[in-house]
Amino acid sequence: MTDTAAAPAVFPASLRAPGTTDARFEPLLELRDLPTGSMRRITRGEIDVLLAHTPVGIVATDDRCPHMSAPLSIGELDGCVVACPLHEGRFDLSTGETVQMPTTGGLDFDGTYHPTWSPAGREPKVDPPGKKAEARRLTRVRRIRYYPVRIQAGWIEVALPAD
Ligand code: FES
Repeated sequence: MTDTAAAPAVFPASLRAPGTTDARFEPLLELRDLPTGSMRRITRGEIDVLLAHTPVGIVATDDRCPHMSAPLSIGELDGCVVACPLHEGRFDLSTGETVQMPTTGGLDFDGTYHPTWSPAGREPKVDPPGKKAEARRLTRVRRIRYYPVRIQAGWIEVALPAD
C-alpha cells in the first residue's frame, strides 16, 4: 500500500554523509514502490544506497553494514532497526547507533572493545588464531551516515555526493 503521507526521517546533523552539503537531489525511486516497513537497494555509480521506510520516515544511507559492509537491504527491518544478514549486528536507522554488536565483537564507534558472542542455543565460536582474530578485534563498527532525502511529485529524491 502506498503511504502518500511519507516524509523524510530527521537524522542527527552530525551524521550527514560527507560530500552532501551542496549535492543535488536526484530521484531514486517512486514513493509508491517503498511501502512502510520495506527496504530497497538503488545503485548510482559507485554508491549503493539503502532506502528504508521506517515508522519515523524515509531514510537513505549506504547499503553497507557499518561492520563489514554486507548489504543491509537483504537483512530484516523491524521498526527502525535493521538486522544485518551476516553477523547478527542490529542498527537503529533513526539514530545511527548500534543496537546489537556483531557476533564477531570488535570496537564500537568510540573505540570501546566488545567480545565475540554467540546467539542463544549455539555453541560459542572458537576465535580463529592469529591475524583473523586481531582483525575482528580491531574492526570498528561505525555509526550510520545519512544522505538527505526529500519527496517531490511522488518520487523519493536523495542528495548524493558528486562523482
Ligand atoms: S557485516 Fe553486518 S554485522 Fe557483520
